[in-house]
Amino acid sequence: MPFPMMTLRVLSTIFIVGLIPSVAWGSGVHSLEPFKVDLSDKVSHMKDLIEKTNLPENEVNTGVGTSLGITLNALKSLKDQWLTSFDWETEEVSINKLSQYTTTIEDLDIHFVHEPSNDPEAIPLILLHGWPSSFLEFSAIVEPLRSNSNGTSTSRPFHVVVPSLPGFAFSSAAPVNWTVTDTARVFNTLMVDILGYKTYAVHGTDWGSLVAGELYGNFNQTVRALHLSFIPKTPYNREELAERNITLKPEEELPLDVFLEWQKTGTGYFQLLSTKPNTISLALQDNPVGQLAWIGQIYIDGSDPRRGTGPSLLTDNEILRTVSLSYLSGSFASAGYIYQQNNGAFNQEYTRAKTDAPLLFSGFPYNNGAWPDASIAMIGNHVNTTYHDFGGHFAALDNPPALIEDIRKIAAYWES
Ligand SMILES: *[C@@H]1O[C@H](CO)[C@@H](O)[C@H](O)[C@H]1NC(C)=O
Ligand SMILES: *[C@@H]1O[C@H](CO)[C@@H](O)[C@H](O)[C@H]1NC(C)=O
Ligand SMILES: *[C@@H]1O[C@H](CO)[C@@H](O)[C@H](O)[C@H]1NC(C)=O
Ligand SMILES: *[C@@H]1O[C@H](CO)[C@@H](O)[C@H](O)[C@H]1NC(C)=O
Ligand SMILES: *[C@@H]1O[C@H](CO)[C@@H](O)[C@H](O)[C@H]1NC(C)=O
Repeated sequence: MPFPMMTLRVLSTIFIVGLIPSVAWGSGVHSLEPFKVDLSDKVSHMKDLIEKTNLPENEVNTGVGTSLGITLNALKSLKDQWLTSFDWETEEVSINKLSQYTTTIEDLDIHFVHEPSNDPEAIPLILLHGWPSSFLEFSAIVEPLRSNSNGTSTSRPFHVVVPSLPGFAFSSAAPVNWTVTDTARVFNTLMVDILGYKTYAVHGTDWGSLVAGELYGNFNQTVRALHLSFIPKTPYNREELAERNITLKPEEELPLDVFLEWQKTGTGYFQLLSTKPNTISLALQDNPVGQLAWIGQIYIDGSDPRRGTGPSLLTDNEILRTVSLSYLSGSFASAGYIYQQNNGAFNQEYTRAKTDAPLLFSGFPYNNGAWPDASIAMIGNHVNTTYHDFGGHFAALDNPPALIEDIRKIAAYWES
């Protein structure tokens, strides 16, 4: 049976799946298939294209550092490593250590990792990634969260679920006008109707935090805790904070500066994807080095400048793994549409979600956003903020031990 580690809670699911290939719940029929990543037949074409890609000999603009986007040197170095030290087959073996499945919900194929704990006291948890990321962002934190290895006396293990957002990796492209609200509904179906969890906790970052916010506000019976490393609202600038009499803690100064700089000089990709996604999508869908430049810049600029040194796992190899998944799974174009489909969703409408579930926040210095407690309290039942002195936008890669510790704090507030 493909489900040796599932808990008692979902035994009925296993039983029915064992008898017939699909299970009917409510209005939908959900099949559940074990899934392994196998894109090896596409690797030689990718390598061929990488090898044949000519980059300029010299920087066109010298002396501008990283201010105009990814540098030629950075791109050349990544490209060289892609051809010499990077090995997709090795990555596949490691990715396939995670138990993965696909199911169909509302006509979309949804790919997800499901790593349940053996402990009946474990808390069900869904981890939600953003763009240009993927389920891989959480690879290093799944097992520690599942097993509570390194846990404290108050922490508990989790049943860990990591779906691919529609359009990303192996989940179907989202149809026209599909929004994060729709994704939230589909993921609640995944957790409750398909995996059988009556209640669960949510962690989100980037676009995943917008999905998380929708889950938190729209499913207050099933979503019983929320942890975020990115608040799904545009931060207030200094004038807007002053108008509201909100003062910053010292730890909030740097991430606010990072946000304001990003807002001034770093949103080109955001504008393009929000308005004319076809142009970049079609240009780069079959261009691995192009995808590397486009995606690599976001990882390099979005992470702690100490990227790749402990505790950060955001190495060049990690960037290459992410871009390879984007290219090989053919999801570059479909992932980018999340911006256009949710144009305007990242805004300053701080409204209180209709829920009493606890909301916890983790702040990382090089994230592009600072949200003082007073702002966070405007969107939910804010109970805890923890700041760290290392890390950026991709916390699960930039500072995994800190994120693990903070997600474990959910246990202190968990009631269901
Ligand atoms: C998508 O939304 C736009 C704007 O609201 C609307 O004009 C269009 O008809 C919608 N398309 C579909 C296929 O629903
Ligand atoms: C901010 O503080 C000032 C002075 O105490 C007060 O007059 C004003 O009403 C406050 N504004 C808000 C939005 O609370
Ligand atoms: C949960 O949501 C329902 C429906 O929106 C609402 O009536 C109820 O007040 C909410 N519960 C809490 C505690 O906010
Ligand atoms: C809440 O956050 C603070 C740090 O701001 C931390 O000291 C405290 O232990 C946290 N509470 C829980 C329950 O983890
Ligand atoms: C586990 O604990 C060790 C020692 O306290 C620490 O160095 C490491 O970062 C921890 N790892 C995780 C994943 O929490």
